[in-house]
Amino acid sequence: MDKKLKLAVIGKPISHSKSPEIHQDFANQFDTKIEFRKDEVTPETLETWLADFFKAGGKGVSITLPLKEEALNNADEISDRARLASACNVIYAKDEKLFADCTDGFGLTKDLEENLKVRLKDKKILILGAGGAARGIIPSIIEKKPAKLKVANRTESKALLLKEDLEGKVDLKGKSLIFQAGGLADDFLLADSYDLVINSTSVSTQAGESIGLPKALFSGTKLAYDLFYAAEKTVFMQEALAGGAEKVSDGWGMLVEQGAESFRLWTNLIPDTSRLLEKPID
Ligand code: ATR
Repeated sequence: MDKKLKLAVIGKPISHSKSPEIHQDFANQFDTKIEFRKDEVTPETLETWLADFFKAGGKGVSITLPLKEEALNNADEISDRARLASACNVIYAKDEKLFADCTDGFGLTKDLEENLKVRLKDKKILILGAGGAARGIIPSIIEKKPAKLKVANRTESKALLLKEDLEGKVDLKGKSLIFQAGGLADDFLLADSYDLVINSTSVSTQAGESIGLPKALFSGTKLAYDLFYAAEKTVFMQEALAGGAEKVSDGWGMLVEQGAESFRLWTNLIPDTSRLLEKPID
């Protein structure tokens, strides 16, 4: 096949995105020829951009901030994963239709369980933040049957709303999950100790910024995981280590694994992620 597969990543800001390099690595594994665009797109220009891209023979597009919710309105079919997350991070063309899916939760749980060897079953998990990133990952985490899941957000009402919304959508029957939501007050945060603390807030996008968590939060924590990816340890990771967390990780592995799942949706090919996991792209 010498025709190139037309792929893209869109969002704003977008210049930092490593998606073109990640997908080029996957494509090389199968001798698949791809043409991967990186375009700045806003919610206002999204509909037109998608229409033009798919009209011109586009196969698949990765969707990043701030378009993940809005993009759902531009697909003919929405996967269960995307419906539960109320967001999508991939849209692709198949059988004359546009499909929206969310591979973020898959990417995170794969990175946690397979790459970092942290099983989620029966564990106590704290998720910081209740925005789109939290919505994208929580359904996949619940699937893994943790014992307790707490969502803590600066704006408490947003965490409560997220919980209420999910309880109406996710089948929690047969899962003995304790699911709680609250604010960032110490009494709520410190009422438990957590095997896993996940930072899904956007705080790490602002260099040097701290959520202001109590240090004692991390005593007993096996892994503190930041969804954000950066060459240096984020403030959240540094604070977790100082607070006694055994291990910290940024979101590079999740980025690679969600990309691999998106690549599978576009090509039916399952790439090997091991090389990229070892060697982040600078
Ligand atoms: P995303 O799609 O990345 O989740 P978002 O929907 O704008 O982006 O959500 C950002 C999240 O980061 C929110 O949970 C936000 O808390 P609020 O709901 O109170 O705004 C959280 N956040 C951003 N900056 C923060 C900070 N400095 N401290 C604590 N939480 C912060």
